[in-house]
Order: sequence, then structure tokens, then C-alpha cells
Amino acid sequence: MVKEGGGEGLRMLGKYVLGRTLGEGNFGKVKYAKHVETGQAFAVKILDRSRVQSLNFSDQIKREIGTLKLLKHPSVVRLHEVSASKTKIYMVLEYVNGGELFDKIALKGRLSEREGRKLFQQLIDAVSYCHDKGVYHRDLKPENVLVDEKGNVKVSDFGLSALPQHVGNDGLLHTTCGSPNYVAPEVLKNRGYDGARSDIWSCGVILYVILSGSLPFDDRNLAVLCQKIFRGNTKIPRWLSPDAQDLLRRMLDPNPITRMDAAGIKAHDWFKQDYTPVIPSDDDDDDADDLIPYSEPSSTKVHNESDEKGTTPAQINAFQLIGMSSSLDLSGFFENEVTSCLLITELTNV
Ligand code: ADE
Repeated sequence: MVKEGGGEGLRMLGKYVLGRTLGEGNFGKVKYAKHVETGQAFAVKILDRSRVQSLNFSDQIKREIGTLKLLKHPSVVRLHEVSASKTKIYMVLEYVNGGELFDKIALKGRLSEREGRKLFQQLIDAVSYCHDKGVYHRDLKPENVLVDEKGNVKVSDFGLSALPQHVGNDGLLHTTCGSPNYVAPEVLKNRGYDGARSDIWSCGVILYVILSGSLPFDDRNLAVLCQKIFRGNTKIPRWLSPDAQDLLRRMLDPNPITRMDAAGIKAHDWFKQDYTPVIPSDDDDDDADDLIPYSEPSSTKVHNESDEKGTTPAQINAFQLIGMSSSLDLSGFFENEVTSCLLITELTNV
């Protein structure tokens, strides 16, 4: 039987042993996990279905899963598997073991332009790759920019991202979300916005934080903070190189139309120094296949108590399922499963 919370203190999720909590987000925890057969480390994002559903956010979860499926880039956290119990949705993610960029900055106060540039180049590579796929992050901040053991950036948490089919009739996105300090003025105004341009604003705020160790826009009073953001009212440190100052000014332009875009950033002198582009792994079939041995037929089925009683398990792939219909009610599907069952789905062959 596959279930979460095996006996003798070992908490199991399918073939994964769950460990310590790595972080806590809006909808639940992220836990360390180890694949019992390969010993490979993963991060499992555990979404509380009741919280997700009570907030009427199940559409958002479906979107996140569909979105992550599209993203295969060395600087973007990979989704390997999705599973669900009656009360939870589990997303098995690539484990990134260097912590948050936020902690790195907090530890050092700020980073040198050379060190900061390397991280920023990878961030822009990741973000522009996603934009090229029609995917916008919408919650970019140092907390969801992770760093691996080699010091390379991995952008995580696409929970608030939106695909092109979620744009309104005016061709713009319409949901306000994210931490105010990193949110673009046009998003705060909630009059519809271009996801790519607002992500670039957030990248500008992140670059400012990386290079200065402080926020470009901050105030204890939310209304004052919003005013500062609307006006682009910030002091760019004079002690930064002229090129760095210029780039920051162009990215933190409150007018999204004149704000520098990803192509402009990549052509900027400050960005171009020591630049080695991160190559996306689109063509590699799915490197996750190498990590998890899904060759046996049993690994693709619905694992539940009835499996052991000889009931024929449903064979399903969540991504195919989600892809089949945009109006599909994923929560209803999970609800019909036997209590304490897990739907183990895989990312392969999608
Ligand atoms: N915290 C949140 N997501 C994580 C991940 N994928 N790896 C490590 N820590 C995380």
C-alpha cells in the first residue's frame, strides 16, 4: 500500500521518504524527500486541498501543473511527478540544495557586481525562456529564486503563473498577486498588465536587492509604498558602476511601455560582461526519467489499498488529463479516489 505517513516514524509518499520541512508557502509546505530505490533527493510541495479549494484556487493548481510541465530549463526548478491523496496534492520537484538567494544576500549584506551579475544573467535566462513559452511567473522575489550547490540559480514556485489562455479580452492579465515590494506598478493598479513586462520589473527589484542589500521601494505604510512604486521613486546607489545604475533605472521604469524588455537587458553592456548563456534542455526527452525508475508497469498505476486486493488500477497521467480539458475538475477526480489512496502520476511520455 502506498500512503503518506508510514509506521515507525518514517513518513512515506509512494516511493519517497519524506524528511524535514524546507519551506512554507501560501498553500502548504515544501518537504525534503528521498527516493527509496535511487537515493535521489527531491523537494515535495504539499498543497492542502481544503485550503486550495476553499479559496477556489483549484484552477490555479491545475494551471501550475500544466505550466511546470512546459518548463525544462537548467535555471528553472523541474517538476518530476504529481500525486494526490484525499486531502493533499503533492508535487515532486527537483531538489535545490543551496538555499534561497534571499539567504545568500542576507548573509553577505549584498553581492559584488561580478557575483550578482552571474546570478542575474541566469535569472534573466530563466525568465526569458519562460516568457518565450508564454509563461509568466508573477511572483518573482529572492525567496523563490533558489541557488544550487554550484551557486547556480533555479527559479521556483510557479504557483501564481498564468498561461496565455488566462489573459482577458483586452489581451492583458488581470489578477493581482505577489509581495508588494516586488510588484510592478501596473499590477498594483490592477488595470490589466503584460506578464512579461511586470516580471522584468520584479527582476529589476531583485537586481537592486542583490547589488545594494536593500529594497528600492519600501515603507511601513502600504499606501506610501504604492505611491513610491507608482512614481518609480527610488534612489539608485551612486557607488554602483554607471552601467549597473543605467540598467536598474531602465528596468525600474514605472511605465511598462518604455521599460526595458528581456532582449534589451541581454543587449545591455552591464549584462553582457562574462556572459555564458544557460542552454535550455527542451530537446532532452526528460532527464527526470533517468532519475526515477518508472520502467516497471506498476509505477504508472494508481497506487491504493485496492491494488493489494487485486482491483485493476486506473492508468492515468495527470498532465495528459489536465491537457485534455481546460474545464476539467481535478479536485473532483481526486475526490472519487479511495480514502488514503495516492494517485501517482508521472511526467514521462507527455
Ligand atoms: N524550497 C522550496 N522549494 C525547494 C526546492 N525545490 N528545493 C529545495 N528547497 C526548496
